This record gives sequence, structure tokens and C-alpha cells, in this order.
Amino acid sequence: MKSFYITTAIDYANGSPHLGHAYEKVLTDVIARFRRQMGDQVHFLTGTDEHGQKVQASARKRGIPPQQFCDEVSAEFRAMLPKLAITNDDFIRTTEERHKKVVRDLLQQLFDKGDIYKAEYRGFYSTRQEQFLQEKDRNPDGTWPEIFGDVTEIVESNYFFKLRQYQAWLVEFLTKNENWIFPRYRQTQVLEFLKEPLNDLCISRPKERLEWGIPLPFDEGYVTYVWFDALVNYYSGVIDRPGVWPATYHVIGKDILVPPHAVYWPIMLQAAGVPLPLGIIAHGWWLQRGAKMSKSTGNALNPLDLVDQFGADAFRYFLIREMNVGQDSDFTPEQFMVRYNSELANNLGNLVNRTLNMTTRFAAGVVPSAEVAEEAERELHELWAKTAPECVALCEGFQFHTALERTMFFVTATNAYIEKRAPWKLGKSTEAKDQALLRTALATMAEALRLAVALLQHVMPGAAAKINGVLGYTPGPVWREELVWGAKLAGATVAPALVLFPRPEKPAAPAAKA
Ligand code: MSP
Repeated sequence: MKSFYITTAIDYANGSPHLGHAYEKVLTDVIARFRRQMGDQVHFLTGTDEHGQKVQASARKRGIPPQQFCDEVSAEFRAMLPKLAITNDDFIRTTEERHKKVVRDLLQQLFDKGDIYKAEYRGFYSTRQEQFLQEKDRNPDGTWPEIFGDVTEIVESNYFFKLRQYQAWLVEFLTKNENWIFPRYRQTQVLEFLKEPLNDLCISRPKERLEWGIPLPFDEGYVTYVWFDALVNYYSGVIDRPGVWPATYHVIGKDILVPPHAVYWPIMLQAAGVPLPLGIIAHGWWLQRGAKMSKSTGNALNPLDLVDQFGADAFRYFLIREMNVGQDSDFTPEQFMVRYNSELANNLGNLVNRTLNMTTRFAAGVVPSAEVAEEAERELHELWAKTAPECVALCEGFQFHTALERTMFFVTATNAYIEKRAPWKLGKSTEAKDQALLRTALATMAEALRLAVALLQHVMPGAAAKINGVLGYTPGPVWREELVWGAKLAGATVAPALVLFPRPEKPAAPAAKA
């Protein structure tokens, strides 16, 4: 079995989860479930990033010790996962011993090797981004861009990691491995960034300024820079699991690609002699009225409100259907309602209802066998023969939104087939030919529904299980076999009804203003 190790970014433990955090978990889960269906041995890691200035400041504001603060916030992130039907295998916290030990060992190794040195630093520091700034980061009028928050000038001795020494290697690596970052155009942006000489990375913070971090093993007067600490989670989380590293994909947002994931991380690993991850998937942002949804801008949407109101399946469906991985999407409650009503309640819900209702009415609840294949049936078979491999290929290339569109097109075509065959008319006829057509229509719609569900299950696992349940069907272990048009439901007893996507009492609400 092929090992497939996938990670999400670990979320800052300094506020509640919002839609952007939830999306990343859902996307990663959809990939993980899809790979399991394809037969891979999947390991899925997520977690929380708990050190650094922001966390220390948030804990101070609440007047509680940082560890207690992190325990609370991390628990909130963790509690969100089952509500979104996320199938992570592990959850890592950077305050755990298993992680701290690996960070310290790695630092010591790089220090012993001479890749870390001490020097005096004078410069501008952004607390919000937890990074030192350079003159080129300023606005043309000399001010600092809004994203950096408060910027202060500081002079201090610190430890530096020799990034520049590895710049030429990284350029060569990215040039040779042109698909290392998905979408590919982002890799071009990294190479653009690498045209300028890299500065060595300041990887320490003096304890007087920041206490909440992992002490450097070779100088306890300093703690580790939060990015150097956080990136290591992907490795520390599997250090005790032989054969899992290297990661197949790190799933992250585009804002943390350059420099942390595309520059610091590969160089850290290369310097330490650890194999590199096989790829990085950089998704876009959820926006609200064009602005990035985030805690600091106060336009964050609580994902769990939507899940409570519409269920995890509808929520996951919307996120995956709406966003083209890599690009941004605007979240609007209106668009959510359009997809919920037209694609889920009307299109898929309708096919489920008709299948159950007509099988109950015209075949005493037992799915018959198809007896004829006329043009109407052949058209649907042909559409399926095209849809199934196309959707598998689209999912392999992370084009989940298009795969869902094609799947829903097949559902629409099945509903159209039902209109064409009109079983309610055939049911009134006693002619043998009409009765054979009726049995064929019932068998065809049930089989088409079963197949569509097989293509939806990594996105809507709960709904898929419910539909299979009312069809009296248990999918087999080999997913690809589930995608073959056959007579798997012949003789199955269906339930009379299932309400999957009920009409909401009130529509999705816009994000509350903070
Ligand atoms: N702690 C760092 C990541 C360290 S990984 C070694 C961090 N945390 S975060 O909480 O700010 O963001 C976590 C993830 O959520 C990031 O991948 C980020 O891109 C993603 N999102 C945060 N806001 C987002 C949107 N509005 N839309 C989509 N995802 C965005 O960065």
C-alpha cells in the first residue's frame, strides 16, 4: 500500500476558529478520504501552533498563564474537527514534549554543524507577523503596511540560521521539481522571490522580550522563533511512526507559502539531511466582500453556526464546490443558500426521494433488475462511463469543485431520465412492455443514485452513508469497483423516505460584525 502523509497548517492558538481554518481542514480531509478510497495508507495530521508573542499577549490580556490559555484554545480547535467530520489520525500541539524535543534536537544539530551563528541585530520588528522587517517592506511613503500592525525598532543579539548558504540549492531544487507547489504558478512566484538575495533567518528571541517559546538547547537565554518551531510539527508528529515521513503534501493557505513553507522549511530539512516533503498545496482565501476573513479584521464567520444549521455535509459540499483550490472565493450567505437549495435539496434530494418513493409505490420497496436498454438508458450509461473516470482524474489533480459539478450534472441527467421514462405513467399500464420498462426505470435510477453517491462520499460522508443505508446497500472495500455500472442493488429493500436536506427555518445569516 502506498503511504500518503498529509498535513494542514497548525492554527495559532490565539482566537476561535473561523471559516478559513475550517476550510483547510475540510479540504485536507476530502483529499485524505479520496486517497483512502484509492487504496493509499493515509496518515493525516493537524494541530495547534501555541508559542510566540501573540499567544503570550493574548494570555496576558486574559490574565491567565499561557499554557492554560493554549489548553483552552487548542481544545476549541480540536472540538471543531468531529463536527466537520474530519478524519485526522493525530492532533499535535507545539507545547507537547514530543514536539519540543525534536525542535531542540534539530537546533542542536544545525548549531553543531555550524549552520547557526550569533550576531547583533538592529532593525524593525512586526509583532503581528512575528518577523523582522526590511527597508523594502515599507510603503512608498515610508510607512509600514497595515498587515504588519505595530512596528518597533530594536537592537539585540540573536542567533541566525544560514539561509543564504542554501539559496542556490533551493533555486535548483525548485527548477528541477517544477510541480512541487500546487498550483504551479505559485512555484513561479517563489522563484521570483528567490531572485533577490536571502537574508539569514533570525531564529531566536531573547527571553526578556519573549518567554513563551522553546528554549534554545545551546543558549537557555533565548527561545526559538515561532516559525522555526511550528514548521517542525510536520516532522515531530510522525517521528515515532516509521515509514510515514516524508509528507506527501502540506496543505496551507497562500499567505504562509513564502517565505515559511517554500523557503525556510525546505532549507531547514536540507540542512538537517532530512528528506523533503513531496509537495505543497497552497489554497486561496475565503473573502467577505473582497476582504480576507480573519480574526483581526473582525469579519470572521463562525463555521459552526453553519454546521449547526445545515449539517456538516452541506457545509463541506459548499466549501468544496465553491472554491477552486488555489484561488480566492467570496463567501456570501446568498450563494450558500442557492447551492443548498438547488444542488442539494432539489437536485440530489429529489433523486433520493423519487427513487425511494417510486420503488416503494411500484415495486413494494424492492429494487428490480433492469430488463431493457433503450436509448434513454444507453445515454445515461454513456454519460456515467465518461463521468466516473473524469471525476477520478479531477480529484487526483485537486479539481474537486469541477468533479462535484460533473457529478451533479450526472444527477441532473438522472432526474431528466426519470422525467422521460415517467414511471408514474408506466405504473398505470398493465402491458408487459411497460412493466418491463417500469422495472428498468426503477433499477436504473437506483443504480445511478448509488453511483453518484460513490463519487460524493469523500465530500459528504454522512449523507453518503445515509443514502446507502436507505438503499439497503453496503459499499464494498474496493472503491473503484463501486464506480462500475452494474446491478448491485437488484433485490435490495429500500426505506420509504429520507429527509436529507430539509428546508431551513431561516436562511444562512451573514457574518456578525465584530
Ligand atoms: N500558525 C501558522 C501556521 C503554522 S504551520 C507550520 C498560521 N496559523 S493561522 O491560524 O493564522 O492560519 C492557519 C491556516 O488557516 C493557514 O494555512 C491560513 O492560510 C489559513 N487561513 C486563515 N485565514 C484564511 C482565510 N480567510 N481563508 C482560507 N484560509 C485562511 O498561519
